[in-house]
Amino acid sequence: MQVFVILPAAGLGTRMAAGQPKQFLELAGVPILIHSLRAFAQVPQVTAIYVAVRASEQERVEAQIKEHGFAKRVRIVTGGDTRQESVANALKAIACSDEDIVLVHDAVRPLIDAATISRTIEAVEKHNAAIVGLPAIDTIKQVERTAAGAIITATIPREYIVQAQTPQGFRCGLLKRAFAEALSDGFVGTDEASIVERAGAQVFVVPGSAANIKITQPGDLELAEFYLSRQ
Ligand code: C5P
Repeated sequence: MQVFVILPAAGLGTRMAAGQPKQFLELAGVPILIHSLRAFAQVPQVTAIYVAVRASEQERVEAQIKEHGFAKRVRIVTGGDTRQESVANALKAIACSDEDIVLVHDAVRPLIDAATISRTIEAVEKHNAAIVGLPAIDTIKQVERTAAGAIITATIPREYIVQAQTPQGFRCGLLKRAFAEALSDGFVGTDEASIVERAGAQVFVVPGSAANIKITQPGDLELAEFYLSRQ
């Protein structure tokens, strides 16, 4: 059994307002994408890592990967207009058997640790589909958006809620079938689990950590620096 990793890194990161995509911003002097790559490169079961980037950024990513010594196990593929398209392009490039495992991880979650990655791989070996999720701490409200503002329509018991993080891992055959179904139905999801759920598979949850933040908005970099300094 082989384990492949997909790092979608083709987003524009406009919410960050940083002048360049957030995956290329530096954290402790190293690009965020390289932190994420390093975490997966440390896991011995990982066979190869596919990074989806915009065509215009291919050269700089190749140079960064070489500079940090990851060239051997890393392949670059062209990203798409949505995260789902970027992952689909990488998935197409992976020659896997149905039983192999594919982990998808946001390139902008640089604080993922090797132990959580290993636990996700073990959960996929056992259940075929598993994602990292964080139990909700806040009380969760369902709302209706109106012109006057949001109005609460229900309170969802916290024990029913987890916040989906990454990595999200699946048997390769299952993920390819689910992506093909989503494509033919025109479904676009914001994570891989939603695509696999609608294909009828059960997806298990591996406990995540609050430190596994997705760098999204101004202030997140400072928070990531803080978590990194404590690792
Ligand atoms: O935009 P969001 O924060 O959901 O992005 C999550 C991950 O998906 C990021 O690593 C981003 O670079 C990637 N992405 C991508 N292709 C897109 C949009 C987002 O690879 N078209």
